[in-house]
Amino acid sequence: MSETQLKDVAKKVAKQAYAPYSKFKVGCALLTKSGNVYTGCNVENASYGLTICAERNAIAQAINQEGNVEIETIVVYTPTPTPTPPCGACRQVIHEFGNPKVFSFCETDDFTSHQMSELLPNAFDLSKD
Ligand code: THU
Repeated sequence: MSETQLKDVAKKVAKQAYAPYSKFKVGCALLTKSGNVYTGCNVENASYGLTICAERNAIAQAINQEGNVEIETIVVYTPTPTPTPPCGACRQVIHEFGNPKVFSFCETDDFTSHQMSELLPNAFDLSKD
């Protein structure tokens, strides 16, 4: 699936976002190396720190289905005039599952495109089995 198609999927899931506090709705669609697409939206909570970002929600959906994944492409959509690259916490979590292309799209033609390693240089790692 192309990044443009992933944008359309992310835009759709952004509508499901539970964001009564910030009113900032985020949708995410990711493509795994195995060719599957998973989605997530942000889920806020009255105890603000418990909020789940769209990106981490999508990654959890992928792990639920595949047990482990390598992410090829991850796309964020926000219904805003400018694009929203992933927050710092999400960058660390995305890094755990590969070095994907990361696109952020919005309601204008503006967008950002990076390799994950550009967004989180010198990332923290532990060796994995
Ligand atoms: N949010 C995301 O879903 N992803 C990000 O990368 C940045 C922030 C959400 C969390 C919260 O519900 C709202 O956006 C405002 O911070």
